[in-house]
Amino acid sequence: MKKKIKCSIVGASGYTGGELLRLLLFHPRVEISQITSETYTGKAVSFIHPNLRKITDLKFTSINDLKPSDVLFITLPHYRSQEKFSQLKKMAQVVIDLSQDFRLDPRFVYGLAELHRAEIKTANYIAGAGCNATAVILGLYPFYKNNLIIPEQTVVEAKISSSAAGRQLSLGSHHPERSGAVRSYKPTGHRHVAEICHQLGVKNIHFSATAIEMVRGILMTAHVFLKNPLTDKDIWNLYRETYKHEPFIRIIKQKTGVYRYPEPKLVRGTNYCDIGFEIDKETNRVVVMAAIDNLVKGAAGQVIQAFNLRFGFNETTGLEFPGLHPC
Ligand SMILES: NC(=O)c1ccc[n+]([C@@H]2O[C@H](COP(=O)([O-])OP(=O)(O)OC[C@H]3O[C@@H](n4cnc5c(N)ncnc54)[C@H](OP(=O)(O)O)[C@@H]3O)[C@@H](O)[C@H]2O)c1
Repeated sequence: MKKKIKCSIVGASGYTGGELLRLLLFHPRVEISQITSETYTGKAVSFIHPNLRKITDLKFTSINDLKPSDVLFITLPHYRSQEKFSQLKKMAQVVIDLSQDFRLDPRFVYGLAELHRAEIKTANYIAGAGCNATAVILGLYPFYKNNLIIPEQTVVEAKISSSAAGRQLSLGSHHPERSGAVRSYKPTGHRHVAEICHQLGVKNIHFSATAIEMVRGILMTAHVFLKNPLTDKDIWNLYRETYKHEPFIRIIKQKTGVYRYPEPKLVRGTNYCDIGFEIDKETNRVVVMAAIDNLVKGAAGQVIQAFNLRFGFNETTGLEFPGLHPC
């Protein structure tokens, strides 16, 4: 039998930790060593992640009882990761952090395989990209890479689900306040802007975030302005050229039907990023849409893809779920 990689998850009672567990428990080359939670130490994992009933007998341990493993996934809130990093990095050769704390840190490789595949293969420190950042970067990367748009004029609006805020309770996530919301919560100054600019090599991007009635998923809509006119065919070719070998990027643009453009519910639970576009010829504007599941391609799935690359496994291992329809 082939050797399994021993993985532990710090902060496994959270939403991204739970999603890592859901996926890694079915990964043929992974053995879960430990999962930590300070609030639920000693409790069975299914107490917090009921979807995992009868699938695992794992119990949460405290971060203070963590033992060495091959890979440590850290799913702590931002700043908490940074705080504990000097202690945690001794616990595994490969550390994969999902918080924003290391996304601009030169010791870490940014976890998006589509942009950093070669570096990920040899990295011992990997920082998962932000969920909104993932959708924005993957949608717009081909335009920036090929210098096709006016760099400072990109305007992005992201519609974001409630799970993107994690499982920590707040007044804003309380059901009477959150249910039915179409809430503009970060019209400017979103914390993902820095990593988006860094990855796209641009000084600024105009990004606004709106919380909507959805548990999982992000739909980002970007307006980019072309330096020179392009046709539909040009843009198809641009995406095809950039992403032709990418297992998790799908270009969605149909003339008819209900699902003509990317839609978050179709990628729920999957590691896909669906990207679509439409040209406004009058204004030289391209509207780019990208849909992901924030907990999968925007978090756990993305870093499992990176993990697969790092250990030489097929990149799609453990990430084959095709989604649900209808759902
Ligand atoms: N949610 C998303 O869509 C998403 C996407 C990409 C990246 N991220 C990033 O991933 C990280 C985790 O996000 P999440 O949504 O999974 O958050 P979450 O649901 O709030 O979970 C956070 C976890 O951290 C633990 N924790 C909190 N404070 C701690 C402390 N002081 N010491 C030790 N453990 C502590 C909590 O566990 P206990 O209280 O049980 O110990 C919980 O297990 C965040 O940095 C977030 O920004 C989230």
